[in-house]
Amino acid sequence: MATEQIIEAREVHKTYDTGKVEVRALRGVDLAVARGEMVAIMGPSGCGKTTLLNCLSGLDAIDAGEIEIEGVPLAGMSDRARTDYRARRMGFVFQFYNLMPVLSSVENVELPLLVARVHAREARRRAVEALEMVGLERWADHLPDELSGGQRQRVTIARALVNDPAIVWADEPTGDLDSENAAEITDLMRRLNVERGLSFVIVTHDIGVGRKTDRIVRMLDGQVVEQELLEVSNGRAGDVGGDRHAADAARRGGRRLREPHRAGAA
Ligand SMILES: Nc1ncnc2c1ncn2[C@@H]1O[C@H](COP(=O)(O)OP(=O)(O)OP(=O)(O)O)[C@@H](O)[C@H]1O
Ligand SMILES: [Mg+2]
Repeated sequence: MATEQIIEAREVHKTYDTGKVEVRALRGVDLAVARGEMVAIMGPSGCGKTTLLNCLSGLDAIDAGEIEIEGVPLAGMSDRARTDYRARRMGFVFQFYNLMPVLSSVENVELPLLVARVHAREARRRAVEALEMVGLERWADHLPDELSGGQRQRVTIARALVNDPAIVWADEPTGDLDSENAAEITDLMRRLNVERGLSFVIVTHDIGVGRKTDRIVRMLDGQVVEQELLEVSNGRAGDVGGDRHAADAARRGGRRLREPHRAGAA
């Protein structure tokens, strides 16, 4: 049986047209992420990492190619359905936290639930639970200003978890942290990945972060140029979605990912 892919992207192209210049930010990207997998996306500044994240999560439209999320083609969804899917099934973590400065930790974490019209008491209960998962229950009533960078990032991770998503997208989640805090945040994401089967796609410049994931996807000039599997060093051999085809494909490089999936499905 083929591994269940949370995300499957084929031949994705994205060009930004600023009026003056056209930037071909993505030039035929193939990438699949299995349920329960933790993937790092690395590459030099401007190579298209954030663009890829935005396109895969449906935040940004693509010009050509296909993206399927949990088997459903993104292109077939209405704007409303896409937004709704993001709110229900996806979590987001960014470099600069994006926390509301006037809201306490627990209020920041429960905000997405309140926006999704979850009852206030239920939202609070789940927000407190999410803060417990990241070890911040004692900081529930603190404002972002009263927290360290590492604590702030843990609040954003709690916020990303609160709707019980299938996948969390993180864009340089440790970019603003010192190495000790960066390691702690990475370990926290790893724990949530292993314990809850949550998929993570993490854009990072930090090889220390990349090394703690299942797979490093390297990008250059809008393309996936190399993939490196790390499951053995992370002690999770055979557990990366349990799919040898994907593993073999990853070893051979991103451009080959399509074939083995087809083979696996046949
Ligand atoms: N909204 C936009 N309008 C025009 N060009 C854009 C836009 N967003 C990104 N680009 C261009 O697309 C290319 C890829 O940008 P992207 O932000 O995806 O790179 P990145 O790999 O995330 O870089 P960094 O590591 O610096 O964050 C760059 O050349 C960038 O200038
Ligand atoms: Mg970026």
